[in-house]
Amino acid sequence: MATFTERMGPVLLFWLGLCLSGTWAVDKGNFKTCDQSAFCKRQRAITPGESPYRALLETMELTNTKLTLQLINDNNKVRLLLELYRLQGNITRVKINELKPLKPRYEVPDVLIREPPTEPLSLLSQDENGVVLSLGAESQRVIVSARPFRLDIVEGRDVLMSLNSRGLLGFEHLRMRKDTFSYKVTSTVASVWDNIKRVFSSSQADPEADNKEATDPPSQVETTKEEEEKVEDGMWEETFKSHTDSKPNGPSAVSLDFSLPGVEHVYGIPEHADTLKLKTTDGDPYRLYNLDVFQYELYNPMALYGSVPVMLAHNAQRTTGIFWLNAAETWVDISSNTAGKTVFGKMLDYVQGSSETPQTDVRWISESGIIDVFLMLGPTPREVFSQYASLTGTQAFPPLASLGYHQCRWNYNDQEDVRAVDAGFDEHDIPYDFIWLDIEHTDGKRYFTWDPHKFASPKEMLQGLMDKKRKMVAIVDPHIKVDTNYKIHNEIRSRGFYIKNKDGADYEGWCWPGSAGYPDFTRPDMRAWWAGQFAYDQYEGSMENLYTWNDMNEPSVFNGPEVTMHKDALHGSWEHRDMHNLYGFYVQMATAQGLIERSGGVERPFVLTRAVFAGSQRLGAVWTGDNAAEWDHLKISIPMCLSLGLVGISFCGADVGGFFKSPSSELLVRWYQTGAYQPFFRAHAHLDTPRREPWLFGPENTALIREAVRQRYTFLPYWYQLFYHAYQTGEPVMRPLWVEYPQDPATFALDDEFLLGRDLLVHPVTEEGARGVTAYLPGKDEVWFDIHTFQKHNGVQNLYIPVTMSSIPVFQRGGSIIPRKLRVRRSSACMEDDPYTLYVALDNRRTAEGELYIDDGHTFNFEKREFIHRKFSFTNNVLSSVNLEPDAQFTTKSWVERIIILGASKPSKITLRTADDQENQLEFDFDASMSVLTIRKPGMNAGADWTMTLQ
Ligand code: NOJ
Repeated sequence: MATFTERMGPVLLFWLGLCLSGTWAVDKGNFKTCDQSAFCKRQRAITPGESPYRALLETMELTNTKLTLQLINDNNKVRLLLELYRLQGNITRVKINELKPLKPRYEVPDVLIREPPTEPLSLLSQDENGVVLSLGAESQRVIVSARPFRLDIVEGRDVLMSLNSRGLLGFEHLRMRKDTFSYKVTSTVASVWDNIKRVFSSSQADPEADNKEATDPPSQVETTKEEEEKVEDGMWEETFKSHTDSKPNGPSAVSLDFSLPGVEHVYGIPEHADTLKLKTTDGDPYRLYNLDVFQYELYNPMALYGSVPVMLAHNAQRTTGIFWLNAAETWVDISSNTAGKTVFGKMLDYVQGSSETPQTDVRWISESGIIDVFLMLGPTPREVFSQYASLTGTQAFPPLASLGYHQCRWNYNDQEDVRAVDAGFDEHDIPYDFIWLDIEHTDGKRYFTWDPHKFASPKEMLQGLMDKKRKMVAIVDPHIKVDTNYKIHNEIRSRGFYIKNKDGADYEGWCWPGSAGYPDFTRPDMRAWWAGQFAYDQYEGSMENLYTWNDMNEPSVFNGPEVTMHKDALHGSWEHRDMHNLYGFYVQMATAQGLIERSGGVERPFVLTRAVFAGSQRLGAVWTGDNAAEWDHLKISIPMCLSLGLVGISFCGADVGGFFKSPSSELLVRWYQTGAYQPFFRAHAHLDTPRREPWLFGPENTALIREAVRQRYTFLPYWYQLFYHAYQTGEPVMRPLWVEYPQDPATFALDDEFLLGRDLLVHPVTEEGARGVTAYLPGKDEVWFDIHTFQKHNGVQNLYIPVTMSSIPVFQRGGSIIPRKLRVRRSSACMEDDPYTLYVALDNRRTAEGELYIDDGHTFNFEKREFIHRKFSFTNNVLSSVNLEPDAQFTTKSWVERIIILGASKPSKITLRTADDQENQLEFDFDASMSVLTIRKPGMNAGADWTMTLQ
């Protein structure tokens, strides 16, 4: 039996390290640079312009929906197989794998929502230099050049994207290790091949290829002149700090370059603590490798907790996207021919007639797997969102309550603490929906349990919250305490569900509980079992108002290489290396499944995750991890969530107040004001920080925080409708201005403001001591109304807004109608039947439009079309409400209690006509100084048809 110090040693050391590292800085030495990551270094060393790859045109096969073509590397004669598909919705898919890999290479499962439907491809021309194919109806063509291989996608006369145009395609074929195997003549090769066939006959190899080639040795074994290949350090083994990565499969990296002519702005590839517009990577590339980075540093390309390998490219004419479907460690290099040029330099080029078109070049490098890339060809931002959604799905439609405010800290100490904090909200008249319990609520970091002393009667506690229509989230991490008295561990072990280390024993690493095993969430049977643990009769003390938080799911392994799992750990026959970035996605998937199943498929789940991959949007919410109580961390929350939103993950937030350190009251207030207008709104704090519930900073600050949270609640109907829309379309809820104003370059690189949907523009105050902010209001024909003063401003201007501590600069777009609920109560559920106020903001043509979506707020019944979805429009002085989806059925008690028309003129009378042809004159007030018309108590049910005429 290990002593306490032996067991807890690494955890204590880890935390001691944290506490001693007084100044704020990531310990960069804990994480690899590209140069320290052998495959990245090798691939980055490939020189542009010398591609050894040639397309073997004689091998081309074209069916109605698929082009296949072999590529050969003239240096080592290894052949690759290229497959090209035209997918529905203006997407082209390019897959490149080894023609005959020594063993199957990993292809990412479960991320695509279905096998993407294809469209016809047809041959336009062919000669010895290449092939031209037509891509559907869009006058798009693919030009495949043979020597060297390159692929250009062209529309009309424009090249949209080129692949391998810089000759950086790299594909490390699987090979036998030379010091354990050497071959001399083909006869020995044949017997080796027999063995390989025996070993892998049950694996995932393409069955057709198996049949066709069953008697041939693989081409690379037959023809590769391996003896001439340089064996470099790090190919078969790599050591970083004290960790050695055994690489039984040897080098297996893939890489490819993409050129984007006409593009100066690229976005996406979260998660990085960096600006929205991605920078050129003169130093390290952007890294995608899910890691638990302690005290992450801002404005750099280091990896963080999540990885979504999707990049968007934008210019005033077009938006496109690249989705690189690979779950291994990945690095992305970005270069540009205009990088470093000043605006003046660019103008000089222009004046001097320099003909160089701006161009951005990107190069993706992954450690293993195959090249499987989706070229999403837009042309508008909306179309790119819908293209990506057609591949990986849309944002899960969250329970309405989860769009309210969440109160978290590490930790609420016991039931009494929870009760007191809950009561504090009532006492200070601040609404909230969820209170959170971090790891200390468990019995010794055994998830699915409760500390028997501090949380002795969890159901009583949950019932207390339920009585107030409030909810709770408890943390369930994926590391499982190795403890034979712990049921969860025993079951996972006996079922063989743990990830294995390279020698086949259960993998063990250190995390919060000390020694821990890591369930293999890639296994559907493991996920099903895990989901079952959330059943009310399994998860003791749980109730229907208890939801889940999955943390540390990169996975975090305190004593592992780069604080994560060894790459040579095994998920069945696959190495962890192949699917590292998918682990967290699967953890959240299994958890969400559990929450759905425990309710018999009725209730929508709410699961927060730290690690994400492409597709995570389908599963719940994400937060940006362990930030700090610093102004720059507040600022970076904007581009971090915007970047996630661009790749489908709308439900994003940052720890309000900052996780590490203690915010000044000014910073805390400003953070609440910002967070109130970001999708996931949760305050959280580190265990060692002083308490910071909203009422602990004096009455003035309490009032400011109360006001920010209350503003959030008044907008819940709008948030809910935006999430419904995101669920339907994949469009981001929180979005950069360029998404709505794609032709306005002034919107292309804004990090300090954003839109919610189309209609709210938010420029929170994120500077210490600010006396004013300058917000860019876009849109040549737009007008924007300050939501607090109703003052009207024209679009296309930098507007200076003087601010005080109570200011949250937010503008409603003229031309929009936003439903709000102004009677703020204890929680969102308490406001369910409350009436609406419609804010009608008129544009220059005196028109406006908006929507209202209502359902029960928490079940999947909306899928059975149990909802109300209405459209409001104001035109020719008539405001009307019509049913957008007449086949949907739902009833609500809510009614319209007030209509506020901004930019109005004074009517002489207002007549309401209801669906049953009743007419009523309505009372109103008109404020001539602000042109605001307030219609009082019109009284219609929120689900009814009506028109209102202003005369
Ligand atoms: C790390 C998470 O990022 C943080 O939010 C949490 O409080 C701690 N783990 C403890 O669970």
